[in-house]
Amino acid sequence: MKTIGVIGAGQMGAGIAQVSAQAGYRVLLSDMDQARAEAGKVGIARQLARAVEKEKIGQADADKALGNIECVGGTDAFAPCDLVIEAATEREAVKRQIFETVGKVLSDTAILASNTSSIPITRLAQAAPDPSRFMGVHFFNPVPVMGLIELIRGLATSDATVAAVEAFGQSLNKRIVHANDAPGFIVNRVLMPMLNEACFALGEGVATIPDIDAACQLGLNHPMGPFALADFIGLDTCLEITRVLFEGTGDPKFRPAPLLVKYVEAGWYGRKTRRGFYDYSGAEPVPTR
Ligand code: CAA
Repeated sequence: MKTIGVIGAGQMGAGIAQVSAQAGYRVLLSDMDQARAEAGKVGIARQLARAVEKEKIGQADADKALGNIECVGGTDAFAPCDLVIEAATEREAVKRQIFETVGKVLSDTAILASNTSSIPITRLAQAAPDPSRFMGVHFFNPVPVMGLIELIRGLATSDATVAAVEAFGQSLNKRIVHANDAPGFIVNRVLMPMLNEACFALGEGVATIPDIDAACQLGLNHPMGPFALADFIGLDTCLEITRVLFEGTGDPKFRPAPLLVKYVEAGWYGRKTRRGFYDYSGAEPVPTR
């Protein structure tokens, strides 16, 4: 593989573009328009500059990585891509539309992959030109820091597709795990019930937000407590994935905590809205309960 297409220049897409470019791939980075793609590249430049400042990489490597990334306004320029990774908004209709559009320009050997955290891969594959060359490739935020990629094969995904994407993931220096196309795959199947349970515990008055977070950080050695992590991921995303687990398994153990639902109904999505379980409007996060 030489050329990687990344669709969506938000936090995940930009991270995927960055690590791919640093591994030496030529990257075409697209978003709804050229300006949004360029904004994603500006963020990547900032990350690379910080890495140079910290002496983690040299200036020449940072320049080379940035030079490997070309921003495009849509997916018409994706014809030379060997692998296209979609990291657009987590809405099935949006993703399907993207696969149909990009599918028209891709070569008949190119692989199409989705960074979805919760939509069934077998179902998404129906919008791809060839479901045997379609699979899930799930990165974690922040992409340059997190060492994992979950690979998810749909019912029709071929062994050759899995092998090619696995080799690509390894070339990024990430540990690869394989998951079947089951709700939440591996990480979210295990993580979301923990975050949801923290919301139940808070709602039932078991402890405060800072004490539950401190308990998990210091008692379990987690880098962030469940509320800080839920705010980091986005409470809307956490609720959506919890609903996928609940509806996909039919198991009441996955029912969303009423408090999580309320926060989302209030528009308190976490860091991205500057208020979730913490208020981020000041210099330091302040617990909201
Ligand atoms: N991009 C690149 N690097 C970043 C970064 C970003 N957005 N944020 C932090 N870093 C780097 C920092 O530069 C720093 O690097 P060095 O140690 O080499 O200097 C390192 O990460 C640690 O950062 P900080 O010192 O600023 O802060 P921290 O020690 O509190 O770490 C954290 C921040 C890496 C986010 C850490 O708290 C952490 O790992 N949290 C858990 C994150 C997690 O669980 N992510 C998965 C979420 S689930 C998901 O993504 C998928 C899904 O489907 C929902």
